[in-house]
Amino acid sequence: MDNDEKKSKTPLLDELEKGPWPSFVTEIKKTNNETCQDLLGQLELSYEERKGHWKHGGLVGVMGYGGGVIGRYSDVPEKFPKVAHFHTLRVNHPSGWFYTSQALRTLCDIWERHGSGLTNMHGSTGDIVFLGTKTDELEPTFKELTEAGFDLGGSGSCVRTPSCCVGEARCEWACYDTMKLCNDLTQAYQDELHRPPFPYKFKFKCAGCPNDCVASIARADLSVIGTWKDQIQQDDAAVTEYAAAGLDIQKDVCERCPTRCMAWDGKKLTIDNGECVRCMHCINVMPKALRPGKEKGATILIGSKAPIVQGALLSSVLVPFVPAAELLDTLKELVSRVWEFWDEYGKNRERVGELIQRVGMANFLDAIGLDPDPAMISAPRDNPYIFFQKKEGE
Ligand code: HEM
Ligand code: SF4
Ligand code: SF4
Repeated sequence: MDNDEKKSKTPLLDELEKGPWPSFVTEIKKTNNETCQDLLGQLELSYEERKGHWKHGGLVGVMGYGGGVIGRYSDVPEKFPKVAHFHTLRVNHPSGWFYTSQALRTLCDIWERHGSGLTNMHGSTGDIVFLGTKTDELEPTFKELTEAGFDLGGSGSCVRTPSCCVGEARCEWACYDTMKLCNDLTQAYQDELHRPPFPYKFKFKCAGCPNDCVASIARADLSVIGTWKDQIQQDDAAVTEYAAAGLDIQKDVCERCPTRCMAWDGKKLTIDNGECVRCMHCINVMPKALRPGKEKGATILIGSKAPIVQGALLSSVLVPFVPAAELLDTLKELVSRVWEFWDEYGKNRERVGELIQRVGMANFLDAIGLDPDPAMISAPRDNPYIFFQKKEGE
């Protein structure tokens, strides 16, 4: 072995194999094929120069679909020929990210045959991400994936891959079947998912309760968040047990309730459910004693997005309550109207949230045929610049 070979080729990245957290550098080295070696080489160069080495953009895909593959080319292909093409495939994950090991082995086999062997489990939207392959391998990968029962996820100005919290599969607080709704939406909008029809992207996320474990309120144009209409289910004996076990119910539950609608006299917990805003705090603290009510459903919220262009938005309330059994039909009806309006009036690359800001909530509600509701706002406007509509015939 000569000196050159003995010297590490990736001294900066090697630093990241130290320390307790699982090292992505170790993972890439383990994958140990020529593509991964070139990827490490290019990454080391990026670490040295403190800049990316992927060319701008890239348009590749599979026949029949307008999205699902993110094309990427190295800007130093002569140095790292194995990553000259390094496209990403988004593969639609199962609702709630539940896998059998057989399903995962199938995915691994396919990706070992056609790609770099590197993945991202998962992309932030939810997809299984296959990291790095050549244009020629796209159709063969797609063929094997679909034969194994997997389809691509979304990218571009389309319905992106919907995702959900584990919901009823694992969680006592789920107020509707998030996994079913997520899958139903995915199936219902296959066309809108695979062939981008919109001014910009559109994301669905389904959370079973207001804890919002998929962060739907911040990362979905359409956020579905489980809630209930009646009283919190309460087991007084279990409350007493919590108190006996040392929980300071007055301080840690009642005084942290945002609406101060709870009272504890040392023996009995009383909840004024009419004032409860379903924040989940008391239920989170005493899961054995308290539960969401029995009349379950969800709140539908609209508009969240990252900062570009007009600033980051959280979703805001569109429909305060939809019973669980009516969720799918209501959502279908609602998004058909939202999409019609957005398609007609949305500017190129304008998210739904920005369209609503531009035309105003009143016009938006009018267009999709909903009445304004006090639950849609946190406070009435603080300025007097109010538009009035002329009545017919005036
Ligand atoms: C046809 C003539 C005019 C039109 C159509 C007009 C229109 C407007 C409009 C739409 C606004 C914004 C109101 C809002 O914030 O909602 C405004 C604000 C204002 N205009 Fe005019 N304007 C006219 C003439 C003038 C003239 C001649 C002056 C002064 C010599 C003037 C001084 C102002 C001032 C100071 C404001 C700001 C008020 C504030 O502090 O919000 N405008 N104008
Ligand atoms: S969002 Fe609610 S229902 Fe879903 S996993 Fe989290 S706590 Fe459970
Ligand atoms: S869910 Fe929140 S608002 Fe409702 S009673 Fe419990 S702590 Fe108070």
